[in-house]
This record gives sequence, C-alpha cells and structure tokens, in this order.
Amino acid sequence: VLFSLFPDKDHYSDASPSRCRTCAVVGNSGNLIGSHYGALIDSQDFVIRMNEGPTKGFEQDVGSKTTHRVIYPESAVDMDETTHLILLPFKILDLQWLISIFTTRHIDLTYTYVKPSIKADRNKVMILHPAFMKYIYESWLQSNGGYPSTGFISLIFALHICDEVSVFGFGPTKDGVWHHYFDDFSSDSNGGPHDGGSEGEVISQLHQKHRITTYKGWE
Ligand code: C5P
Repeated sequence: VLFSLFPDKDHYSDASPSRCRTCAVVGNSGNLIGSHYGALIDSQDFVIRMNEGPTKGFEQDVGSKTTHRVIYPESAVDMDETTHLILLPFKILDLQWLISIFTTRHIDLTYTYVKPSIKADRNKVMILHPAFMKYIYESWLQSNGGYPSTGFISLIFALHICDEVSVFGFGPTKDGVWHHYFDDFSSDSNGGPHDGGSEGEVISQLHQKHRITTYKGWE
C-alpha cells in the first residue's frame, strides 16, 4: 500500500559541480521574533520547516514559503499545495497513520490524539528512511539522548541534500529563554527525550567550520 500510494522515486541525488541548492532550515525558537529574517528565508531554494511552526501572521520574521515540512503524526498540521510532507517514522504506527490519512482516516490515536486526516498532496509525500534516523543518532550524536529532535534531524537531512544550509530558529533567545515564536510553550534545552546539549554542540561546530550558517536572531 505504502508504495502504491506515494511516489517511489529518488530524491535530490543530483549533486554535481554545477548544482548550488540553497536551503533554509527553520526551527521553532522564539529567537525568530523581531528578527526580520522573512525575506532572507524566502530567498532560499528550499525552505524546510517543522512540526506546527506557522507562517501566517509571522511572515516578517519567518517568511511565507514552505517547500518541505518535517512532521510525525503527533505534530502534523495542514500543508499548502507547494509543500512536501516529510514523515519521520519513529514507529510502525506512524507509517500506518500516513496511509490512513489518505485512505480510511481511521487512526486518531497513537500515544495521544492524532489528526485522522490533514490537508496534504499525496504526490509530495516523502518518508525519511529509519536507517537515516539511526545514522543521525549514532554518527552525529554518538547515541546521546533518547533520540534526536525534529530540528536536528531536519538540519542533518538538509546537510545531505543541499549545497548551502542556513539555519534559523534554533536555540534560546538572547535572554536565555527556550520557547516557540508562536506560543508560550517553553522547553528546557536539556529536558525531554532529546540531548539539546549535544545537538547544540554539533550545530555550533558545523557553524564554526562554515558547513552551515546559523542565524541566532540577535547579535
Ligand atoms: O518544539 P518543536 O519540536 O516543534 O521545534 C522544532 C525544532 O526547533 C526543535 O526540534 C528544535 O531543534 C528547534 N527549537 C530550538 N529552540 C527552541 C524551539 C525549537 O532549537 N526554543
């Protein structure tokens, strides 16, 4: 079913000396508020957002273009016509849910409520290979933390499919606050199942080595 429902083709394996694909990876940090990064984000070829991170009402700071949105069932939202849905399959049920939202719409519960259907283009669905998620965990985080965050997975994915990676909306605000740009939900960098410390360390090393450019939202 999976293979008949969704496109089964090679994506972005077109690296060559002449390709220069620019990508913005946009996390959900409150450090985007007042940043005026919108135009810079929208000027990239790919704009990769994640989970609920909205654009409506926040265009000045986060832009309006979304070419890819990385989600899992519990974080899914409606996509617009131009957006590729990238599923992170953490469990078998996540793949079943993906089939269900385009067919029977009968799955509305995993460990919590999930949307039985969302607006999305079936022909723009991509599934990140579980082995790629395992590789990120082992090779990029030395198996630290429970499992890598959506943001970290998205960033390392971008590093593999893009030639230039600009990173926005990661990390705390200038005042050390960890929250979303769109709500007050606040998470400690080291709370939860992710090792925010290890992830942050890798991200800052990549920035220092000029493999990515990180925009903090403040200077
Ligand atoms: O909270 P949520 O998981 O939707 O955020 C998406 C990603 O953005 C996170 O996985 C994290 O990598 C990044 N983020 C961050 N700092 C915040 C909020 C989110 O680095 N304050």
